[in-house]
Amino acid sequence: MSNPPKHSNCTADTIREAAVALKAGHLVAFPTETVYGLGADASNRDAVKRVYEVKGRPTDHPLIVHISSINQLCNWAIDIPDYAISLAKAFWPGPMTLILKRSNLAGDFITGGQNSVGIRVPRDPIALELLMQFETLGGQGVAAPSANRFGQVSPTSPSDVEEEIGEYLKEGDSILLGGYSEIGIESTILDCRGESIRILRPGAVTTEMVSSIHRIEDSLNSSDLRVSGTLEKHYAPLARILINQKAVKGQGLIAMSNIETPNGVFRLSAPHSVEEFASEFYGALRKADNLGLVELVIQTPDGEGLASAVRDRILRAAGGRLEL
Ligand code: TXA
Ligand code: MG
Repeated sequence: MSNPPKHSNCTADTIREAAVALKAGHLVAFPTETVYGLGADASNRDAVKRVYEVKGRPTDHPLIVHISSINQLCNWAIDIPDYAISLAKAFWPGPMTLILKRSNLAGDFITGGQNSVGIRVPRDPIALELLMQFETLGGQGVAAPSANRFGQVSPTSPSDVEEEIGEYLKEGDSILLGGYSEIGIESTILDCRGESIRILRPGAVTTEMVSSIHRIEDSLNSSDLRVSGTLEKHYAPLARILINQKAVKGQGLIAMSNIETPNGVFRLSAPHSVEEFASEFYGALRKADNLGLVELVIQTPDGEGLASAVRDRILRAAGGRLEL
């Protein structure tokens, strides 16, 4: 029987070891400021194939390539519009993924056969160090989807990663032990192939921040493209989600701290700010399932910016079972 995957506390040495393992074709789950990623050498077809197997994800769903700086962008993408460079300069390293026309380096096994590629420079220091070490070894980029099984809640801590995919990892693979993800929801995805920007997935780089750089396409025109981010059954807990209703005995509740917990209700999260709402949200969904709750009430946070990205994740989590 093979040894289990390593759990590495993050020192310069363990990060370097993880980079060596990536270069040798192993998988490394690592923290980012958004959620934990399951990384593989983006130029290694067999390693990337294992990412799909571990996630149980259909191979036509493209992966995001993570690089350490804007300097690597031209390796992976061509015909990059000026406004995409401006976005990268403004918001990288950070929670933003750019969809661009792919170069020859971005194989079908990364892009799901599309002629575009998703690229991100994360700002988590462990992620950045890992990517820099990987590049020092001659690596070009790390393909990393969120480190959850397909359709499940994204992990925001090492124990979430272990719970999601631990049993599918093999000897030589590892999980880098960072802390809780700072932001807690996935990166903003921007399609940068047209005259104007299309927001495929909202996130902590907000619509307001994006529009300060370049024009965003009307949401009406881009409604068909949003499908790319919503094709999969996303972020779904087992509990049925009820939105903006009064919680009753036996149900779970996720709501801002100023909303009281009725008697007999399991309070899963009571954030004091929208930032806290985002960072606790996936953990709270996970807790609901671990408690075996059947129903879960979520009071949506008000406001624009990150609050609207959080509402997007709430709606996705509710899936087809939404009760308003
Ligand atoms: O915050 C994040 O983006 C995290 C961390 C680990 O970086 N990653 C992440 O990856 O959320 P994943 O694979 O769980 O979600 C990526 C989304 C998918 O919905 C995928 O369809 C979309 O990005 N995507 C990736 N490449 C694309 C492309 N070329 N065109 C359109 N959508 C793309
Ligand atoms: Mg995901």
